[in-house]
Amino acid sequence: MPGVAELRPLSGDADDSQPPPGPDLLARAERFLALFHAENPEAGSLGERMRQVRREIKSGGTYRHTTAELTFAARVAWRNSARCIGRLYWRSLQVRDRREVSAAAQIAAESLAHLRAATNGGRIRPLITVFAPDSPGQPGPRILNAQLVRYAGYSDGGTGPVGDPASFKITQLAHELGWRNRGPRGHFDVLPLIVKPPGAEPTWHEVPADAVLEVPLQHPDYSWFAELGLRWYAVPVISDMQLEAGGICYPAAPFNGWYMCTEIGSRDLGDAARYNQLPEIASRMGLTSNDDRTLWKDRAVTELNLAVMHSFTSAGVTITDHHTESVRFLKHLEIEERSGRACPADWSWIVPPAAASTTPVFHRYYANFDASPNFYRHADDPGCNDGACIDEGCPARFTTGHRPAAAERLPSSWVTT
Ligand code: ARG
Repeated sequence: MPGVAELRPLSGDADDSQPPPGPDLLARAERFLALFHAENPEAGSLGERMRQVRREIKSGGTYRHTTAELTFAARVAWRNSARCIGRLYWRSLQVRDRREVSAAAQIAAESLAHLRAATNGGRIRPLITVFAPDSPGQPGPRILNAQLVRYAGYSDGGTGPVGDPASFKITQLAHELGWRNRGPRGHFDVLPLIVKPPGAEPTWHEVPADAVLEVPLQHPDYSWFAELGLRWYAVPVISDMQLEAGGICYPAAPFNGWYMCTEIGSRDLGDAARYNQLPEIASRMGLTSNDDRTLWKDRAVTELNLAVMHSFTSAGVTITDHHTESVRFLKHLEIEERSGRACPADWSWIVPPAAASTTPVFHRYYANFDASPNFYRHADDPGCNDGACIDEGCPARFTTGHRPAAAERLPSSWVTT
């Protein structure tokens, strides 16, 4: 039913011998098909499709989405993402159906093709590539990187961290697998993709420089800003979440929109536990950073966000600001309401990290609930550094009821409890 919240059951226990389907697969499939047909009346007979899916589940323990169902699933998963402020354009998501792909080299190649198509010379296109799903007894492939493009982080410099501290673990894993960055360790070394095919060890795959559009940061008024040597990549392609729809989990389904400036300025470059740039920017601005009462951080972070906005815009790379996006989000809520749908939203993620109370999304509350289809973190996600990850993974995972064999497990250095 459109807009009806679905409770997330705990994954059920199962018998070892017969890999069971995911919990409630049939019920989940039926709810999804009902939603798809309710929103796509031209799709034909719901009853006929239900019968077909029931037969498929009965004989093989799973079923295959049609192309139209998969496209709808991905778009609605975005629409249901309670933490995303940018959902007004959920219908514009383009879907690359690569469900036949599960080999590591092919996943890496298709991921790079995704990156190039999404980048589109700076006119960023919202895009998702869907790789092979989990099926009974056979998990799908995984991409272990948080995003297709991320910068390496090295903790052992002696002089403090080099690069992105959010990437310490994945960088260490890349090194363990044999990756070596070219030249000396830098603050903005693009990590390789680390792909784990079903039943095999992860492998690393270089992300070539010509696949990654980056924007060097400069400030419209402060000429010294460029000397900081800061840069960021153009397209955030989330690669460590799984798409769940109708009880089917697609564990590798990288997707992207475009950046809002505060993600880069306030958080990636501004957070003390990330690139921690505010003290340096404040000092260049001539502010004393030893007295909180001067509000030096507020002033520095605003200039950093402005530099991000200005640099992306001058480079012709799509970017948005938190004021514009807040107004758009409320418009999205209104449209959803008019369409008779409840829209889940998490206040603590929707409200921007800068100038919160100057945006209209701050001044109200939202209903938050888990609706399917959706994107979920993997249960063994190493977690984000800000401690904000409390997710338990996809509620509909196929389970074998026992610990996976060694080859199915992620490297131990990767898994945190
Ligand atoms: N906040 C993440 C980052 O800074 C990106 C998350 C997705 N953002 C987006 N605008 N689609 O890299």
